[in-house]
Amino acid sequence: MQNNVTISKLDIRTTILSNEKVAEDHYLLRCECSEIAQSAQPGQFIHVLIPNGAGLLLRRPFTIYTVDEREITMLYQIIGEGTQRLSEMPKGASLHVLGPLGNTFDIENTPKPAILVGGGAGIASLMLLAVALRTRDIQTIGLVGAQHQGRLLSIDDLTAIGVMVHVATDNGSVGHHGFVTDILTDMLSKNDFHRPTIYACGPHAMLAAIAKITAKFEVPTQIAMENRMGCAMGVCLGCVCPVRIDANRIEYQRVCTEGPVFNAKDIAWEI
Ligand SMILES: Cc1cc2nc3c(=O)[nH]c(=O)nc-3n(C[C@H](O)[C@H](O)[C@H](O)COP(=O)(O)OP(=O)(O)OC[C@H]3O[C@@H](n4cnc5c(N)ncnc54)[C@H](O)[C@@H]3O)c2cc1C
Ligand code: FES
Repeated sequence: MQNNVTISKLDIRTTILSNEKVAEDHYLLRCECSEIAQSAQPGQFIHVLIPNGAGLLLRRPFTIYTVDEREITMLYQIIGEGTQRLSEMPKGASLHVLGPLGNTFDIENTPKPAILVGGGAGIASLMLLAVALRTRDIQTIGLVGAQHQGRLLSIDDLTAIGVMVHVATDNGSVGHHGFVTDILTDMLSKNDFHRPTIYACGPHAMLAAIAKITAKFEVPTQIAMENRMGCAMGVCLGCVCPVRIDANRIEYQRVCTEGPVFNAKDIAWEI
């Protein structure tokens, strides 16, 4: 991953252009934000102040899903009070967003092709990356998992830019009946793609499983962590995750500043 991003963080009052349901419990929010749109890199996120909630003093982090010259989008799942309130915000409402934050996926110094593995709303963190890979004409395979067909995300968006998409659902309603990690294991076992790079985001258990699988096959793997956050500015230490520095030493690093993208092999998953 790339840590040398020197883009300054902006706290901007934006206007919601649309906020629409795209799948069960999932929404796509578009807002006008040319400053962030012009500097955002794959993997980076924004910290969003959701207004009018007594219990919502803390902002909530969301990955930048897509950008164009003047707009950014975020694709989010309703999890609790903050995301519920966000889903109720109408077109024209204003929103404060801080960003772009965090480091970025590294696509320059990695083997090709790329296999992107997204579990649930985790696929949102891989869309800008998919665009960057396809813009460079890099072969890109997308493994997209969801609980069931009604919760599948981003299939059309990925297909439209030339990503070869494979789907897995927990209940078998569409695609492979099981986890995306089954498809990944199968692809790596059959050596379908010579020494690819894996990029993943999703539930912690999925990421831990991917780290184990790709370590076995010795395939470089970058993952975007989605720990709970407080400040997102590197101050509160609320977001730390254990990173193995060497065989005998573990250091707690901040997902908001040293991350969110880490090499899967560096995370001490057992802690
Ligand atoms: C860098 C980053 C990028 C993210 N990008 C996206 C995105 O693009 N789309 C998206 O849908 N979500 C994303 N998330 C997760 C998102 O921030 C949370 O789902 C959101 O903050 C929940 O807020 P809430 O007020 O609705 O829930 P809360 O009321 O804060 O929490 C409800 C319940 O969910 C649990 N919870 C909340 N956040 C998390 C979390 N991050 N991990 C595990 N459990 C949690 C809480 O412990 C609680 O039990 C991202 C998180 C990070 C750190
Ligand atoms: S959220 Fe405060 S240090 Fe990361």
